[in-house]
Amino acid sequence: MSKVMIISGAGLSAQSGIRTFRDSDGLWEEYDVMQVCSTQGWERDRELVTNFYNARRQDLKDKLPNKAHQTLATLEQRFPGQIMHLTQNVDNLLERAGCREIIHLHGTLTDLRCEACGHVWDVGYEAQNEYDACPRCESSAVRHNVVMFGESAPQYRHIYEAVAQCELFVAIGTSGQVIDIVPIAKEFEHSVLINPKQEEYVTAFGSFEQKIDAFFEHFIQKKASEAADEMAAIMVQFLQR
Ligand code: OAD
Repeated sequence: MSKVMIISGAGLSAQSGIRTFRDSDGLWEEYDVMQVCSTQGWERDRELVTNFYNARRQDLKDKLPNKAHQTLATLEQRFPGQIMHLTQNVDNLLERAGCREIIHLHGTLTDLRCEACGHVWDVGYEAQNEYDACPRCESSAVRHNVVMFGESAPQYRHIYEAVAQCELFVAIGTSGQVIDIVPIAKEFEHSVLINPKQEEYVTAFGSFEQKIDAFFEHFIQKKASEAADEMAAIMVQFLQR
């Protein structure tokens, strides 16, 4: 049974109206990533970080899945157990499109976590406030459930699992600045890159064209929704083998 590994990033949700991080209008243009998304920033000013994630949660509330999320959900339902989708996104748009098997590498926006006992619970789109306590151990050491720079990302173990188990790699809507997709693509004979931009992928030398020729079988230079049918056609052909 053929299997597909997907790594998605902020570009997947861009056409749903959620800002990416590193595009010209991205979140890291407005906010200092080290202030709002690092362990040092969290220790320095918890209120600032909490407000940042409260705003992200509120922003997500009225957003809807786009055609790319829906296409991925249809494929997951048609080929159960054959798609390992690892997303860097902390939104819930894949789940709202109908996906059930998503691995969130960087956590989830709609959950909070207890720093004392590790319990994670769903708060939907509600703001975290200073009176929140863990529903399991009642500790008031409550935090957002998003991985910060400076701490480990336990879900990354699934990257190695997926590389070992899958034969086609699809990278969609990621700059590759946090998870470098070139070394992953190198492990695959079959791969698809979807991005409207020609990114400077981190670890490989040479021009963009040289990197694409060397490491990716297909490059679909389109936005995720516009690339969805082409992506699905490649995946279906592969998953039916
Ligand atoms: P980035 O903001 O770094 O990159 C977004 C990518 O999406 C860029 O390569 C864009 O060219 C591309 N893009 C933009 N619009 C698109 C569209 N409509 N369709 C397809 N692609 C599009 O986001 P990530 O690579 O996801 O971490 O960033 C990785 C991590 O960095 C995030 O998970 C976040 C951030 O710091 C945490 O918050 C822990």
